[in-house]
Amino acid sequence: MNLADKINNLSSEINSIIKKAGNLADELGVSTYLVGGFVRDMLLARKNLDVDIVIEGDGILFAEKFALVLDAHILRHKRFGTAVLTLPNKIKIDIATARSENYAAPAALPVVKPGAVYDDLFRRDFSINAMAVSINKHNFAKLLDYFNGLKDLNEKKIRILHKLSFMDDPTRLLRAVRFTERYGFSLEKLTRRLFNEAKKLNMLHRVTKHRVRDEFILMLKEARVLTMLKRLNKLYGLTFIHKNVKLDKNADSFLKDLDRLIKSFHRRFPAKRVLDTWVILFTAILDGLSLEEVRKICYDFALRRGDTKRIVSYHQEYKAILKELLQKKALSASSIYRILEPLSFEAIVLLMAKTSKPDIIKRINEFLEAHNGIKLAVTGEDLKKIGFVPGPHFKEILTSTLHAKIDKVIKNKKDEIKFIKEHGSRHMRG
Ligand code: CTP
Repeated sequence: MNLADKINNLSSEINSIIKKAGNLADELGVSTYLVGGFVRDMLLARKNLDVDIVIEGDGILFAEKFALVLDAHILRHKRFGTAVLTLPNKIKIDIATARSENYAAPAALPVVKPGAVYDDLFRRDFSINAMAVSINKHNFAKLLDYFNGLKDLNEKKIRILHKLSFMDDPTRLLRAVRFTERYGFSLEKLTRRLFNEAKKLNMLHRVTKHRVRDEFILMLKEARVLTMLKRLNKLYGLTFIHKNVKLDKNADSFLKDLDRLIKSFHRRFPAKRVLDTWVILFTAILDGLSLEEVRKICYDFALRRGDTKRIVSYHQEYKAILKELLQKKALSASSIYRILEPLSFEAIVLLMAKTSKPDIIKRINEFLEAHNGIKLAVTGEDLKKIGFVPGPHFKEILTSTLHAKIDKVIKNKKDEIKFIKEHGSRHMRG
């Protein structure tokens, strides 16, 4: 089958990359193929800016030459014979040496050897991800479909290539759920049976935690993450994260509220930073666990320090924060600011989903709409001009002035200077 039409339908940038890769392949005399998710999405007419290329030959050498042709940034992984080229227009090109893999033990890392494109396709997860398209001139756009991937795409099936696939690489259990829900496909019968067998053997517990983490985070970043989590919960459960993690009705409605709030946050505050959705959802999934358990999960998964901090501090503080925000007495705008400003936006969205109290929601909304990000017109330089000697009290003077501004006691720079002249010396020591 020839896919020239499909290639022509891709964007002109991607088209030109494919043609240039084909020309270079001819010059170097190596057979070169588009593979994996890129081919799958091309056949589904879905946009994909990650071009996957496999070389029957030296992938690194090809990548180095191709980086010069495209003037692209190159990152080499010599051990694996792979390289990634990045272009300024967000297009990423993964280049790999065709290789075969052998798994010495279930869930272990494979032993990798150079091979032909067939071997490279056979080591892959599902038939829909195991097709290749030749891009050399003499057989340009020819589809190589050894495992009936095209048939499975048409029949909307996720099918593994051999019986030991989930044993070799149990993270494929997560991928199977991700792809079925992303594309609205279902697990093919034998694949489903082998999925269940792998589940019975607790295969996801056997993989190193960081590999599970990477795959799970990919799921949490998907657009249809909620249906994926539900499906994963049904097919496998979430105890691979921790024995006490489960998705019950409460968790389900918490996640739905979060999903709605994340979307509304992005709609209402386009100028604020884009939320790390996966951090919010990961935090929510750990709802109900003890602080020690949350800490241990972050440690076991080797999450980055900043992510761990956001997740742990939410679990540590949310009850106290909600209590403070629920106070009956009138809270000044600056008091609310003092409570909420130190929190991440992710934690704030979690707080909103956690509470059903309209008073709290109102206070958080006021903070987000009017006070978060508010700045003074005066600076430390102005303080010096007024006659203050620099020191730690500068921060205190500026903070109390900012609070006065938030409470609308002062409005413009003139007011700020007047306020500082009247109140600033309170912060001087000695
Ligand atoms: N792959 C695999 N087993 C895994 C991970 C990846 O066989 N555990 C193979 C698949 O053939 C996949 C390719 O490596 O198509 C590239 O992996 P990745 O970039 O993670 O997947 P994509 O299919 O490109 O998926 P996505 O659309 O989510 O980027």
